[in-house]
Amino acid sequence: MTKPVNGFSKLTKPEKIEWLAKNYLSDNQSAISVLKQYWNDDEDLQKLHDEFIENTVTNFYLPLGLAPNFLINGKYHVLPMAIEESSVVAAASKAAKFWNERGGFKATVLNHKKIGQVHFLFQGDFSKLEQLFTNIEPKLREAVKPITRNMEKRGGGILDIKLIDKTSELENYYQLFVNFDTRDSMGANFINSCLEKFAEVLQEEARNNPDFTDEEKDLEVIMSILSNYVPECIVRAEVSCPVENLAENQEMSGEEFARKFIQAVRIAEIEPYRAVTHNKGVMNGIDAVVLSTGNDFRAVEAGVHAYASRNGKYTSLTHAEIEDGIFKFWMEIPLALGTVGGLTSLHPLVKLALDILQRPSAKELMEITAVAGLAQNFAALRSLTTTGIQQGHMKMHLMNILNQNQATAEEKEQMVEFFTHHTITHSSVMEQLEKMRS
Ligand code: MEV
Repeated sequence: MTKPVNGFSKLTKPEKIEWLAKNYLSDNQSAISVLKQYWNDDEDLQKLHDEFIENTVTNFYLPLGLAPNFLINGKYHVLPMAIEESSVVAAASKAAKFWNERGGFKATVLNHKKIGQVHFLFQGDFSKLEQLFTNIEPKLREAVKPITRNMEKRGGGILDIKLIDKTSELENYYQLFVNFDTRDSMGANFINSCLEKFAEVLQEEARNNPDFTDEEKDLEVIMSILSNYVPECIVRAEVSCPVENLAENQEMSGEEFARKFIQAVRIAEIEPYRAVTHNKGVMNGIDAVVLSTGNDFRAVEAGVHAYASRNGKYTSLTHAEIEDGIFKFWMEIPLALGTVGGLTSLHPLVKLALDILQRPSAKELMEITAVAGLAQNFAALRSLTTTGIQQGHMKMHLMNILNQNQATAEEKEQMVEFFTHHTITHSSVMEQLEKMRS
């Protein structure tokens, strides 16, 4: 059995790899070569990536694809999408093209508040705590001035601070609940620094309050941290067109398409098993843009799914209806994104992705990202309710198998032609490829 390792972080990169190979890869030299194959020859670039996290041994690539022709609020955009799943970028591009022929996407940021909390325990008279809070609120704001000064110059800062009594749910538990405006930054460091300062001042003021009993002076801060649940950082994305314009060919009328499509959305609205997959499709588009622009996709995922269950039942993020002959498809979701700070100024591809998007503000990025999610959901539902999802997926699957088997361009062409009329499975592709090669 492999023994635990001490001081792993102090080892050099080659030493770490050597340790890994010896203890977990049976000294497999080809595994080591794979790790090294992904090192970048540009030493500065490699060092930059090495230093993003701890114990880096290599780089993990994801493809960066482009989805062009996104008409959003009257302006064309090319969306940079970092994602490994085949057909997501193709589906986004197709949805973009479909809607730019029908007026494009509209997107609006409805509000953009970020939230942070100081969670603390207080044993005693709530009215005395309330009095303390009222008295020290100016002091709390003053104490964070060195942190908020720059943000205030940019028009942001602390919006409001509330004292919340949570004792009906957990004994002695209270919060400072703080709303922030972090302008174009995601603002995690800013928010957490402010909260930790609030916590320090709150604890100190309680300790020194002559009106407090000893128990009340013992106010205990448990933690101070931003919330990734941001139900007041909402962006709306929508498309609409006359129902008859939805028809693309003779096979299905616009009315028939809209009827089935809306039914599919209704199912996701009432059925959590379907809603999760439906929303996963939305997140295919959102995560890909969030990742390429250096934002925190785990935060976005957590917040979006919490929002999808805000009424006590997990439901669809998107909605659709027909009103006066107009088909409408829309979504409102929380997206706390930033276009300055963090990775945005460090990672060369993130900088490039933001350049591709014409250096958007955080609000513009929220709009673009929400549109990517809506487009992705539209594309998925369109396939699901018409041809079925496998048609597109299997084409990509075919390409993946052909690439794995080093198929030439000519072989690929012949195989694609053959499988237009035959069912794609791994074995049928391999069989046909072997037949062709022999
Ligand atoms: C696959 O990544 C996403 C879909 O399953 C979404 C959906 O079912 O709506 C196609």
